[in-house]
Amino acid sequence: MKAVIYTEFGPPEVLRLAESAKPIPRDNDVLVRVHATPVAYGDLLARNFKNVSRREFNMPLPLLLPMRIYFGFSKPKVNILGSEFAGEIEAVGGSVTRFRPGDQVMGYLGQRMGAYAEYVCMAENGSLALKPANMSYAEAAAVPYGAIMATSLLRHGRVQPGHTVLINGASGGIGAAAVQLVKHHGAAVTGVCGAPRMEYVKALGADQVIDYAREDFTKNGVTYDLIFDVLGRSSFSRCKRSLKSDGIYLLASFKTKALMQMLWTKLAGRKKVICAMANEDPESLVFAKGLVEAGEYKSMIDRCFPLEHAAEAHRYVEQGHKQGNVVIMVGHTDLENQEKPS
Ligand SMILES: NC(=O)c1ccc[n+]([C@@H]2O[C@H](COP(=O)([O-])OP(=O)(O)OC[C@H]3O[C@@H](n4cnc5c(N)ncnc54)[C@H](OP(=O)(O)O)[C@@H]3O)[C@@H](O)[C@H]2O)c1
Repeated sequence: MKAVIYTEFGPPEVLRLAESAKPIPRDNDVLVRVHATPVAYGDLLARNFKNVSRREFNMPLPLLLPMRIYFGFSKPKVNILGSEFAGEIEAVGGSVTRFRPGDQVMGYLGQRMGAYAEYVCMAENGSLALKPANMSYAEAAAVPYGAIMATSLLRHGRVQPGHTVLINGASGGIGAAAVQLVKHHGAAVTGVCGAPRMEYVKALGADQVIDYAREDFTKNGVTYDLIFDVLGRSSFSRCKRSLKSDGIYLLASFKTKALMQMLWTKLAGRKKVICAMANEDPESLVFAKGLVEAGEYKSMIDRCFPLEHAAEAHRYVEQGHKQGNVVIMVGHTDLENQEKPS
């Protein structure tokens, strides 16, 4: 099969089209013919993992070593990027009962990756769900990562109808999903993002949008029940004054200092710090499918690139102008049609 592989860490140019072995489904696996896979934060990180500095690594440093062991020290160990996809099931293993050939699906492969390819295999009980009927492959491919992560992380935020929630990093994979899930729970959302993406975050349903380069949300006097910081660019000491008396400061990216603050605020004080790790719950993908079909959840596509132009897709994302998702289309489909929202 055709796949975009990389055998050196580095800039987008390390990505190249090559022949790779077609995966063979085991007894409980489905074989999916990939149609679309978005360029996500994890793809950019893994492509250049050797050169990620301690400062750029958004998690506690002790986690860097296992990640380097997994992704490789000097050469990549994972050679095909892409952790989420939409496609069509081509074959199923003997004990598969939930899916059958011909089903249109979307799925999340996590750190295993491999979706920049014509085919992927995964267990039927993994993060796999039928594609929403009202979405194109390109749109559906951009649902799994954000929906799974945001659903899991937001559970720690205990969002209630009428709450006010600020999402710092609202235009990214997790943030865009969080904006929509928080709205679904009946809370008011303020999204914080870069200026080029303010309209996009508004279109996702945010009630207010703040450009982080022009306004420091911790200084405008507004308070929130929940501040959810995706990249961990804020700090508890500054955000404390922007939290209501029993507000929660929820972090998806955090260093050891925030873990200490979490321990401390668990023991004392009403405002809590929560450093959360997402659980991969396949049910959240089924839930997201329902929201999409009910018209409460969308994924917006900025641009699509064919598989052989994966390096260009990475360059485009790294230029920082994208509004929504950049998606790599894998052969089989009409690129033009996939680009348009259905
Ligand atoms: N805890 C967990 O289980 C878990 C799971 C998955 C991922 N993560 C973490 O989540 C992060 C990736 O999230 P993602 O996939 O959503 O990334 P992403 O798609 O790259 O989005 C990053 C977001 O952060 C915003 N941003 C950039 N600089 C900012 C600043 N100075 N202030 C405020 N916002 C800023 C970006 O805004 P603009 O683009 O508009 O500038 C964008 O909205 C990583 O740090 C990863 O480690 C954690």
